[in-house]
Amino acid sequence: MMYTEQVMDHFMNPRNVGEIEDASGVGTVGNAKCGDIMKIFIKVKDNVITDVKFKTFGCGAAIATSSKATEMVKGKTIEEALQITNKQVADSLGGLPPVKIHCSLLAEEALHAAIQDYKEKLARGENPEQEDDK
Ligand code: FES
Repeated sequence: MMYTEQVMDHFMNPRNVGEIEDASGVGTVGNAKCGDIMKIFIKVKDNVITDVKFKTFGCGAAIATSSKATEMVKGKTIEEALQITNKQVADSLGGLPPVKIHCSLLAEEALHAAIQDYKEKLARGENPEQEDDK
């Protein structure tokens, strides 16, 4: 079997798929190797990631690692979330076939881009933690 049970579980039942409308930060990245795309939305409150969702045009390995990565960063501070690597995510799923390791980078890079987006909003004096008035 090429994929572990954990990978298959997260691929068949991915957690945290979707969008966050009033996201504190949004990150979109492409995978240079296959051209697949990943978008991650984060909601931040008092420096803690309270919610995170993803959308991807990536393959099954990208879906599984993104699902796992979103579970791992939820409830973490920004600094803690930045420490989580694609390798830790892949390891926690029991590993990935070597040709699929690049797929797990999508989640890490998109998460970093979303955090960067959040930090840039802060730097511009915006309040990215604010709820939208709807
Ligand atoms: Fe593109 Fe896996 S083949 S993300």
